[in-house]
Amino acid sequence: MALRLSPQRLAATVARSRQLSTFKPRFASSATATSNLPPNLKDEIEKEASLSNADPPSDSQTSRLVNEHLEYMVPTYVRPPPMFQKGEGCYLFDVENRMYLDMTAGIAVNALGHCDPEVTRTLSHQAQTLVHTSNLYHNPWTGALSQLLVQKTVESGAMKDASRAFICNSGSEANEAAIKFARKVGKKLEPTGTKHKLVSFHNSFHGRTMGALSATPNPKYQAPFGPMVPGFEYGTFNDIEGLDKLVTEETCGVLIEPIQGEGGVNVATPEFLDALRARCDEVGAVLIFDEIQCGLGRTGSLWAHASSGVHPDIMTTAKALGNGFPIGATIVTDAVSDKIVTGDHGTTFGGNPLGCRVAHHILTRLSSKELLSEIPSKERRFRAHFDRMRDMFPDIVKEVRGKGLLLGLQLASDPSPVVTAARERGVLVITCGTNTLRFVPPLVISEAEIDRGMEVLEEAMLEVFGKGQKVDKTPGQQEMGSR
Ligand SMILES: Cc1ncc(COP(=O)(O)O)c(C=O)c1O
Repeated sequence: MALRLSPQRLAATVARSRQLSTFKPRFASSATATSNLPPNLKDEIEKEASLSNADPPSDSQTSRLVNEHLEYMVPTYVRPPPMFQKGEGCYLFDVENRMYLDMTAGIAVNALGHCDPEVTRTLSHQAQTLVHTSNLYHNPWTGALSQLLVQKTVESGAMKDASRAFICNSGSEANEAAIKFARKVGKKLEPTGTKHKLVSFHNSFHGRTMGALSATPNPKYQAPFGPMVPGFEYGTFNDIEGLDKLVTEETCGVLIEPIQGEGGVNVATPEFLDALRARCDEVGAVLIFDEIQCGLGRTGSLWAHASSGVHPDIMTTAKALGNGFPIGATIVTDAVSDKIVTGDHGTTFGGNPLGCRVAHHILTRLSSKELLSEIPSKERRFRAHFDRMRDMFPDIVKEVRGKGLLLGLQLASDPSPVVTAARERGVLVITCGTNTLRFVPPLVISEAEIDRGMEVLEEAMLEVFGKGQKVDKTPGQQEMGSR
């Protein structure tokens, strides 16, 4: 029989969670050490007592429910044991009503947190007004969102020639549109069809549909589905010297993430983006920035590429644009949209009034100066904790990368046990690239929440890697502790 928390203890745990203090581990009572309970039961009691959010065991209600559904689902994902049923701000609650601090934000999606009341109100209001008409008819919101995307982008100082948007349902679809638009530009410039090659970079991730997948040179994702779409070539990220050979007269487009998310949180240097822009101009190729993960305020400006001073011809966005509602967009310059005519591309659901209205609301908030101005101090907070972890575990913590609230902490070995240990203490983090922990929390996370999350991560590291080096509290740390 699985041991679960009693209702009283559960209520006390949740109450403590609500006071944001569950992240202190509770240690097993020494009573079990001398008891004559069977060893497996003893282990379970000790685990439950020492962890605030021990993974539900295989004979729990949660596992029963998971297993009941599992046989009906195509097995594309392996998920950890808890089942989440509710979200609020930076927290998720599992079916046992245990609370988790979510540093993943649904993979950089819930930038405004879970179930933000205004987002929910907007969705609900529009759901009662008009949900879908198809793109065969006008509605007030597809155009309004397109206009806002263009205006906010130009105002922000990024993509200065942004002029139109195509609205779709996901990041992959936004990239599919970008790839097709680049091919169309190539066809217009070179009607013989020789200008059709698309360049992307190793360690990039652009999606799972065949075009986006063909631009994602990861053997794990591509190999089972080959052959890829012809005409894709791959270069080395940040390799300026290689550009002349890589991008040629046959290239119609170059697709790049200004900060690679999935590939390990690798930041493109401004020099590289600048050289890429120059080479695209030389050969007449369109430069496409995939800002699906790194954009929409995550780095402290509306778009991650703004600080480079380099402007793309096409930019793709999705993820945070819907805060969980599926939506994407491909933003283009006039020089690109001039080449696109009626019937070239389309979508049934893309641009529906429900998604566009909620994205309009979300974009307005994600571009607010107030929200964006808080990101650098939150980044510093994370980095102060990472510095401390590096001092504690000098042989384990290798490198910190990223910008704003898209941060990677590279370890010397597989971080999966740390992810598990953190989850069982009530904090969710994900991995990326090689041995890297990825931090993409809601942008609305507070500094106190960052502190608590990082304290738990430190405990998880101690659990996995054993006793670290003794580290005095840094001034930043003392300041954090006082909050
Ligand atoms: C940079 C980037 N591009 C494209 C995609 C694909 O987006 P979607 O999963 O919405 O199709 C992702 C998803 O993780 C991404 O991070």
